[in-house]
Amino acid sequence: MYGIVNRAIEELIVEKFGAEKWEEVKDKAGFKSEGFMTLKPYADELTFQLVAAASEILNIPADALLEAFGEYWILYTAERGYGEMLNLAGDTLPSFLKNLNMLHGRVSNLMPELAPPQFECINEQENSIDLIYRSHRNGMVPMLLGLIKGLGKRFGKEVVIQQVENNISDKTAVIFHLTWS
Ligand code: HEM
Repeated sequence: MYGIVNRAIEELIVEKFGAEKWEEVKDKAGFKSEGFMTLKPYADELTFQLVAAASEILNIPADALLEAFGEYWILYTAERGYGEMLNLAGDTLPSFLKNLNMLHGRVSNLMPELAPPQFECINEQENSIDLIYRSHRNGMVPMLLGLIKGLGKRFGKEVVIQQVENNISDKTAVIFHLTWS
């Protein structure tokens, strides 16, 4: 994943637990360089190792860390040069969700090797929508849950997220029923 993801993990850990903890995490993950270049692609494995190391050192389950990271990402990207892109992606929760592929498409102009997940929205109602998620990676669902919560906050909505049975032909997809008030 692009270095901006690892950099955001670093900043989240430094902010919440201090720079010393981050040094321990980095060491445990075997990352030797000083920091991450935001626009350089790194192996996905490094990101997973950072999360695993942080989970052990901070004694927090990896899924809980990924979820907290997803929520943080919405604020982080807004402050680190992607605010305008987020604004352009929609001014209501459902319109934003329907523009997620377009948003990552814009990001890939800056990050040509981006391998983003794909999203599809179906069954839209006034206060609910079904979000279909497809990724090349395993284990990122907790991050997605945090991202959706973060988006809910961005739009002042309390979002309830239920994973529902995948009844479509593509079995790699994961489907969530979102409701908000
Ligand atoms: C301007 C804001 C955003 C930027 C700059 C951005 C960029 C990225 C980057 C760099 C990655 C790592 C993938 C790679 O490097 O190949 C990623 C992954 C991801 N993004 Fe975004 N993203 C943004 C907003 C969002 C939002 C709002 C969502 C909400 C659903 C989202 C969902 C995800 C998920 C779930 C992943 C994990 C990878 C996976 O599932 O395979 N992103 N994004």
